[in-house]
Amino acid sequence: MRYPIIRMRRMRRTEGIRRLVRENRLDVSDLIYPIFVSDNISDPEPIAAMPGIFRQPLKEAARHADQAFKLGIPGILLFGIPARKDAVGSEAVKDDGIIQRAVREIKNLNADIVVITDVCLCEYTDHGHCGIVRDGQVDNDATLEVLVRQALSHAAAGADMVAPSDMMDGRVGAIRAGLDKAGWSETIIMAYAAKFCSAFYGPFRQAADSAPQFGDRQTYQLHHANAREAMREIELDIKEGADIVMVKPALGYLDIIASARRNFRVPIAAFNVSGEYSMVKSAGAAGMIDEKKIMLEILTSIRRAGADIIITYHAIEAAGLLARY
Ligand code: PBG
Ligand code: ZN
Repeated sequence: MRYPIIRMRRMRRTEGIRRLVRENRLDVSDLIYPIFVSDNISDPEPIAAMPGIFRQPLKEAARHADQAFKLGIPGILLFGIPARKDAVGSEAVKDDGIIQRAVREIKNLNADIVVITDVCLCEYTDHGHCGIVRDGQVDNDATLEVLVRQALSHAAAGADMVAPSDMMDGRVGAIRAGLDKAGWSETIIMAYAAKFCSAFYGPFRQAADSAPQFGDRQTYQLHHANAREAMREIELDIKEGADIVMVKPALGYLDIIASARRNFRVPIAAFNVSGEYSMVKSAGAAGMIDEKKIMLEILTSIRRAGADIIITYHAIEAAGLLARY
């Protein structure tokens, strides 16, 4: 059957009909809000490249997490800016490091907030790489041991999930084994499984002061042209024990999200990263686009591609516009 018997516009005639035939909706329950916690400040500090996002001191970070939770956002993802950076990222593994204290502070304030921590060294190393550098190269196996210690210290502080974003080989398996051995078998691993080497992380690196001081991340992050390799990364992380796998960035990688959704049965998270956020914000401020509509359209497209969980700096703003059910 075809036109004039079939008329697609019949189903678009009124708002009620359009609502009934709508295939995907955003739910505030699917959102995670990232928070930058800094050990170096006592008041929130604006991040020039991310309008509306601030580095937060400890107390404010907890208050923000609670504000997000009260808006219906179940969880937050913490990134730390330590007091000191050194070659091996010593601050990352300390029991009284900025993230470890932030987790305790948030859990003390509200134990129901799902607290997720970024496990990686680039925010803690003076060279800005995600691992231990030997002879000018990021040493995979030497890095694993430090990542395990970092994850254990986050679990001990009370984190519900650890999220390794370093892209070293074998880190999910190493972290799972380390957690289980130490008695943290309930701690969830959300693996940045398909993390691409992307210029969309630019604003984040300004926020966390974590840009590599030499070279780039091409020896550990995926090339943006590679989709099959991304599926292999996801498959390996699931085999190593990842509970949730992530695709990152999101918007330029909707095909990767869709194919991950078709190929695997674990929950899929997508990270709507800093560059995606900042482009919307700056085009909105310049009067070029309707910022709120664009935001909802982008988040819905990530959902439609198949993401169960969306990590987004827009979460607080979006929550205000979304109904929960
Ligand atoms: C650290 C990390 C990065 C992001 C999350 N964790 C940056 C990077 O890999 O350089 C990017 C997040 C964003 O851009 O919003 N490994
Ligand atoms: Zn890193």
